[in-house]
Amino acid sequence: MPKVKTIFQCQACGYISPKWLGRCPDCGAWNSLVEEKREIVGRQSSLISCKSKSEPQPLSEVKRQSEQRMSTEMKELDRVLGGGVVHGSVVLIGGDPGIGKSTLLLQAMAGLCKKYGKVLYVSGEESSEQIKIRADRLSVNSEEIILLSETSVEGIINTASKIIPKVMVIDSVQTVYTEGLVSAPGSVSQVREAAAKLMFFAKKSDIPVFLVGHVTKEGAIAGPRVLEHIVDTVLYFEGNGGHSYRILRTVKNRFGSANEIGIFEMSDSGLLEVDNPSELFLLERPLNVSGSVVVASLEGTRPLMVEIQSLVSQTNFGMPRRTSIGVDFNRVNLLVAVLEKRVGLHLGGMDIFVNVVGGLRIIEPAVDLGIIIAISSSLKDTPVDPKIFVFGEVGLSGEIRAVTQAEARIKEASKIGFKKAVMSAGNSENIKNDFGLEITGVQNVEDCLEAVFS
Ligand code: TYD
Ligand code: MG
Repeated sequence: MPKVKTIFQCQACGYISPKWLGRCPDCGAWNSLVEEKREIVGRQSSLISCKSKSEPQPLSEVKRQSEQRMSTEMKELDRVLGGGVVHGSVVLIGGDPGIGKSTLLLQAMAGLCKKYGKVLYVSGEESSEQIKIRADRLSVNSEEIILLSETSVEGIINTASKIIPKVMVIDSVQTVYTEGLVSAPGSVSQVREAAAKLMFFAKKSDIPVFLVGHVTKEGAIAGPRVLEHIVDTVLYFEGNGGHSYRILRTVKNRFGSANEIGIFEMSDSGLLEVDNPSELFLLERPLNVSGSVVVASLEGTRPLMVEIQSLVSQTNFGMPRRTSIGVDFNRVNLLVAVLEKRVGLHLGGMDIFVNVVGGLRIIEPAVDLGIIIAISSSLKDTPVDPKIFVFGEVGLSGEIRAVTQAEARIKEASKIGFKKAVMSAGNSENIKNDFGLEITGVQNVEDCLEAVFS
């Protein structure tokens, strides 16, 4: 008889305690410890008798197989994956409920099965009829897509070994369970164990597996970071309530760049790829209004023109409010301090709001210059020439620093009709091709404001 032990495991970080605690001592989450049962099978003895299956080998003798990738026929998804689906890889797609994870994967499967043959779609959440309704909406109808309603990992692997699909989808990893554990599906130990088994299966059979993962209120994939360590690639599917755009963002990728994004639009008949996101994000840009400027930002390998807006208004009472949406709040505070100290703008008694249009989130420092100009433009109530775009990092002493891939940014801007670029002198000096644009290099914030507002 295997011994069953009761443990309490934190559902946020996986910490194990022999007794219940109100707060996890490891990650600090409140009320996150849940009782789980764990069978103790003679692990140690099996460890001793275990023989290593692979022989040690010098690096120079390792044969490299040419990395084979399968195309999903969705250019955006392929790019985010690093150029297609890698054989034997495990990809985790996280996102809020209803954001379109199942839709994305069903469309990807439809693309894959056309070229490569059978795919297996395992759903623990929806019945086959529900998937059929979605497939009809997406005009997907193929006998190569095999549906399976199953929640036991052993059952899934068993079926997959018989069918031998080209790709497999598990929707979602929180609904599957492994028979070896007694705890409930969705608990940390189940999710981890199930994912590990699927990972093992993927590596052994060379079948790529897509796992759908739910996201907790805090935005992490539920059941939890341990899952992100196990898989090869982690993608987040994000969207903004009121917008129909969806952004697929790489968080981790063993087979490609880790800060790539793909942009989709949710329509009546599924997800459409957005080929030209810069145009989309600048579509409703107000011209000749103060507080708005366009930044040439870079998301992974792709340049993206985005509008930064700011509103500066007199504080009515008490503490001035500072709000930022889409850019780092502390970064905005820092840039406000630079404007006060280095340029002498009076922002102390002002409420300052900064927003990135289109529900985008930009993390790279090249957006600094845009924030500074948007704030100054709103404070002075002077519009920025709509043909100008900017990019550059701002340092604490007010200097403007060079950023990477200046030419790629300029090229993108010239494609959609911008005429003037303001950037750091460091960048402007090294530009070989200006794509017919007027380029101004600036040393510090004061020069920059002069170049934009003169
Ligand atoms: P779904 O893929 O079920 O989301 P998830 O698996 O991430 O929970 O997407 C559901 C949402 O997408 C739902 O609100 C309806 C919407 N939708 C469309 O707008 N158009 C479509 O063609 C489809 C299939 C769904
Ligand atoms: Mg779903």
